[in-house]
Amino acid sequence: MKTIAVLTSGGDAPGMNAAIRAVVRTSLDKGIKVMGIKRGYSGLINGELFEMKRQDVSDIIQRGGTVLRTARCAEFLTEEGRKKAAGVLKVFGVDGLVVIGGNGSFMGAQKLSKLGISTVGIPGTIDNDLPYTEYTLGFDTTLNTVLDAINKLRDTSTSHERVSIVEVMGRDCGDIALYSGIAGGAESVIIPEKGYDFDELCKTILEGKLKGKMHSLILVAEGIGGSMELAKQVESVTGIETRATILGHIQRGGSPSAFDRMLASRMGVRAVEVLIEGKTSRVIGIRENKITDDDIDEALAVPRKFDERLYEISEILSR
Ligand code: F6P
Repeated sequence: MKTIAVLTSGGDAPGMNAAIRAVVRTSLDKGIKVMGIKRGYSGLINGELFEMKRQDVSDIIQRGGTVLRTARCAEFLTEEGRKKAAGVLKVFGVDGLVVIGGNGSFMGAQKLSKLGISTVGIPGTIDNDLPYTEYTLGFDTTLNTVLDAINKLRDTSTSHERVSIVEVMGRDCGDIALYSGIAGGAESVIIPEKGYDFDELCKTILEGKLKGKMHSLILVAEGIGGSMELAKQVESVTGIETRATILGHIQRGGSPSAFDRMLASRMGVRAVEVLIEGKTSRVIGIRENKITDDDIDEALAVPRKFDERLYEISEILSR
């Protein structure tokens, strides 16, 4: 292994910079040349590669976003685009590629590995929607961002004795809503994995009022959506003033938490080691606090298993 390249792809996630730093510094430590690729697969196709030195990753561990920039690339979805990308890697003498991203980015890495490129993926997405790993980079920071917003919304909701509906990201995965609902003390959590019953929701809100609750907090996952409309319906049925807040892209920014920095550092080091060991088509993960590496085909085939116990906990604690 003489040259490793690294890219970030798809939606950015806090902790990506810490992972880039770990990949660059581990490679250099092992005497391997390392190249950064700008703008994900799009930059790869366009040959936007540059050599990275130790100081290129100084002062980035604490920064959100990705210094390599990121993109969603339509051309890479085509066979021709991927062949171009593989050609560019050969021209630059790249022996191993580290892809930091989510599901779509991993599918790209999977296809590139079929073209003979040694690839290893680091899960970087706030959605926590890759079932082979217990955590993805950025998820923990996003939870903290959501909690900060919830705390602030509680102040105003309590003052006005309102219902507050908070819609969070996650694509079709309810983890951001479920975890932040538990940690933020929400009255109800509405996620695609479970769906919801509108009458039950209104009943919970009204019962809460009877118990003396000053406000109700409802967490809605993006995969359910429609929180503005839901707020109107809740208000008209319960008679309690209801406001919806869609947190949006604010959830993707911010300085990574200690957990995400640690995870990124551990995963970044392991990704380089895996390439040095001669393994290819692997993805790095974490299970039972051990850093893992799995075959990419097997990892992407792992079915989504919903954590019923966590949902039960959210229900018990909100009663
Ligand atoms: O995958 C991360 C994510 O933030 C999802 O939660 C969300 O559905 C999507 O990306 C938003 O994508 P974009 O930044 O392209 O609007």
